[in-house]
Amino acid sequence: MGSGGREHALAWKLAQSPTCDKLFASPGNPGIAEHADCVPLDATNHDAIIAFCRENAISLVVIGPEAPLVDGLGDSLRIADIPVFGPSQAAAQLEGSKGFTKDLCQRAQIPTAGYVRTRSLDEAKDALLGFGAPYVLKADGLAAGKGVVIAETREEAESALLEMFGGKFGEAGAEVVIEEFMQGEEASFFALTDGHAILPFGSAQDHKRVGERDTGPNTGGMGAYSPAPVLTAELEAQVLREIIEPTVMALRQEGTPYSGVLYAGLMLTEQGPKLIEYNCRFGDPECQVLMMRLDSDLAAIMLACAKGELADTSAVFADQTALTVVMAARGYPDAPDKGGEIVLSETNTAEGSGKTKIFHAGTALKDGKLIANGGRVLNVTAMGGNVTQAQKAAYAALDAVRFPTGFCRRDIGWREVEREA
Ligand code: AMP
Ligand code: GLY
Repeated sequence: MGSGGREHALAWKLAQSPTCDKLFASPGNPGIAEHADCVPLDATNHDAIIAFCRENAISLVVIGPEAPLVDGLGDSLRIADIPVFGPSQAAAQLEGSKGFTKDLCQRAQIPTAGYVRTRSLDEAKDALLGFGAPYVLKADGLAAGKGVVIAETREEAESALLEMFGGKFGEAGAEVVIEEFMQGEEASFFALTDGHAILPFGSAQDHKRVGERDTGPNTGGMGAYSPAPVLTAELEAQVLREIIEPTVMALRQEGTPYSGVLYAGLMLTEQGPKLIEYNCRFGDPECQVLMMRLDSDLAAIMLACAKGELADTSAVFADQTALTVVMAARGYPDAPDKGGEIVLSETNTAEGSGKTKIFHAGTALKDGKLIANGGRVLNVTAMGGNVTQAQKAAYAALDAVRFPTGFCRRDIGWREVEREA
């Protein structure tokens, strides 16, 4: 289920699984259509999805984005006895409500920023007095990645609160979490869990800002690489012990076990790794680099996770770096220019070369031509011996793409490239 670059990477990998003999995608995109039959199902119509699964004897549903998970599609499928990769509505609250996650961290003593949950402007203004600048303000609910404000001054913070409680994010901003500001480098860690067993599933770092050297407005992510060398084996063990395991245990003990992928956004502080936030799905474009590196049968792993049999499963990742560069439509993230033509060269569309792969994030076919149909359009992905080599290969593949109304950052991976130099 889904239509972005993350879902293209999942479909590409699932289609390679020896245990997958037939793949459908809903709604999919022109890239996904190379690996799956695309069917336009309405993600909010659970009955229609269940009927489709029964008619086609579907043995596993993989839900890509967070919205259908927070909307309870996983629950509807489980009630219908259809195996599903993705958490229940109750467990997806880890992404659906920042306040829910902060309270869980407090109960389970998981390292994270200090916080206050507020439900009105007055309450929030009072709470601000307990924090110093910069102020971190978060709309509680899903806000398409735009619900976080870091304000340098009290005045800025108060005007952001006014907007949030004024309905800028609709229902998502009816509650606002105010947090202590954490300092450090960010990294992402992924783990699959069936509620009991935990399978570490790799690390990544992304670039959220639209401009080079990480400047300008926030986006869904302009590029990523995996693994994240800053997350050493020792730090990963600490993250598992102090953050992931207590989360999985708390949710199980509270009667809302988590099943699916847990995506932990981490701040590597001087006091050790702390949780910034959880997502209840793979990152986009982080998924693309994880899938490039995964050597195991993804369908078998996801099915085992869905069935509660993850303990018997392992995941092998290539000991190489994968790096992806997002090509976005001019104007992204504000008002992307849709409709621009894209020409991919033959080598770029070649399947499974193992070296480079272009995932479609926001494309469409019009009169037989490939066009841009979203903010983030393509994810040009390559493997290399380290970040520097993977970066070089990714930009070489990218320079062979003709997409005149598109743009990209030329410095994806810069922190690591500098460290490697
Ligand atoms: P989130 O949507 O919660 O991941 O927040 C978006 C971005 O805001 C994160 O990737 C961080 O860069 C930043 N951020 C969020 N919370 C904090 C915090 N408590 N301290 C410092 N930066 C933060
Ligand atoms: N790339 C960030 C996210 O998927 O949330």
